[in-house]
Amino acid sequence: MTQPTFYITTAITYANSRPHIGHAYEEIATDVIARWKRVNGYDVYFATGSDEHSANVEARAKELGKSPREFCDEMAAIFQATWAALNISFDRFIRTSEEVHHHASQEMIRRAFAAGDIYKGHYEGWYCNSCNNYYQESDLKDGNCPQHGTKAVRLSEENYFFKLSRFAQPLLEWIGKRPEVILPETRRNEVVNVIKGGLKDISVSRTTSTWGIPFPDDPKHLIYVWFDALINYISAIGFPDDKAHFMKYWPAQVHVVGKDITRFHCIIWPAMLMSAGLPLPERVYGHGFLSLKGEKISKTRGNVLDPVEFSKQYGVDAFRYVLLAGNNFAADSDFSEEGFVELYNSDLANDMGNLLNRTLTMVEKYCQGKVPPPAAETSADDVPMLEEARALFDKFNAALELFDFSGAYAAVWSLIDRGNKYIESTAPWTLFKQGQTERLNTVLYNLLEILRLAAMFVYPIMPATTPRMLAQLGDSAPDRVLQFPMEARWGLLPVGQTTAKAAPLFPRIEKELAPGKVK
Ligand code: ME8
Ligand code: MG
Repeated sequence: MTQPTFYITTAITYANSRPHIGHAYEEIATDVIARWKRVNGYDVYFATGSDEHSANVEARAKELGKSPREFCDEMAAIFQATWAALNISFDRFIRTSEEVHHHASQEMIRRAFAAGDIYKGHYEGWYCNSCNNYYQESDLKDGNCPQHGTKAVRLSEENYFFKLSRFAQPLLEWIGKRPEVILPETRRNEVVNVIKGGLKDISVSRTTSTWGIPFPDDPKHLIYVWFDALINYISAIGFPDDKAHFMKYWPAQVHVVGKDITRFHCIIWPAMLMSAGLPLPERVYGHGFLSLKGEKISKTRGNVLDPVEFSKQYGVDAFRYVLLAGNNFAADSDFSEEGFVELYNSDLANDMGNLLNRTLTMVEKYCQGKVPPPAAETSADDVPMLEEARALFDKFNAALELFDFSGAYAAVWSLIDRGNKYIESTAPWTLFKQGQTERLNTVLYNLLEILRLAAMFVYPIMPATTPRMLAQLGDSAPDRVLQFPMEARWGLLPVGQTTAKAAPLFPRIEKELAPGKVK
């Protein structure tokens, strides 16, 4: 049986500044999906990378007295180390300065030429070096970029243009046929409105810089950085020379990007692909933005939180959990250390930690630390809990299909909650005193099964926690690759397996936090 493939990507980060928590949010979200698909039997390819030809990158390198390449080498190393520290399981880190990427970009320009979609023209307009985008005079605020607040510059160039205007109808048909290609719905509506408002041809070359990819056959022009950047999604998997690898993974199942750049991915990118005669991605997910304590993340405000430092302090898994399970990925969300500590303590230290500790302690005390045998007959009292446990896989999977991380983990925590209430309602200590051994064994078995399921389902978001939990439950191969949906079935915990002594996975954080400070 051939394994189905699943190609997933993040946006490639501008190499001009260090990764911040907003970038980490996107990487972790993508990683959760990639890991979930892997344990569900998919052959996953996860690509991320760095976007190096921006005017901003060139400017920053100059400020530091470095060549753009030297500077980008350093930044690419920082990005990769950051993602490794956050346990991001990417398969490919693509840099747009790589030879293979230059080659792929030139091939895409050649194809667009051949299709009659590129022509020479003259461009004059207001340009923002941070957006790498032109603006209408009416869009500017006091001459400044509406996004960045920095001065827009007047550019006047002879440019090559891409006939984006020709693609309005095909783009509307693409979205109309399968609306879920753009999620969430608010982003889709936004994109559709832009297209219906009319598309203008875009300039796809620059002559104002030397750091970039030369136009084929006209090297004094460089390929516009957005045109080049989008091509990373196919150069990363071998387009055009490694046909076998490329055809194995293209089209991508999903591009995960932020809401500020969804339009580039839902308009320009599919138009480029259509022009080149290539299949379109199956989905673009445009997530919301993170702010820090109510403020836009900004280096000039000095409110940047280093995701690696933060997770060194509190644990990588806890950081991943709070970021993704604690926020609605579709909407804008806020992050603060106070909010982090609150969710950590309530979900990880209390709900999950208590269930694990109390259950293991009782198994040790009442069952000599061995998984007890449940009764053959199901007690009517247990039915709602068993039903919820049996429904968990479908619920969880359906939520993650829509990038609803908080919904997926709310379903897991609902079962954990039930487990904690079940301890209260069944009172195993009383069963023990009364000598009701069969019922006691069943209750403890059910609690252990809930914990086993919790350990399984936290894997995508807290990959290092799963083996630690499984080991405490006595699993002899806690590091194995999990297999869903098989292992999510109720009742797989082997009777007689020796459990470990309870050891807290997430010790409570007792900390007074200074109000008004990010860290
Ligand atoms: O846009 N919250 O790069 P970038 C959530 N190079 N997500 C955020 C965020 C925040 N506060 N800030 C940024 C670029 N992001 C281009 C992409 S892709 C062919 C080229 C997200 O470094 C942002 O939306 O500015 C984007 O998806 C990613 O981080 C990289 O942003
Ligand atoms: Mg940006």
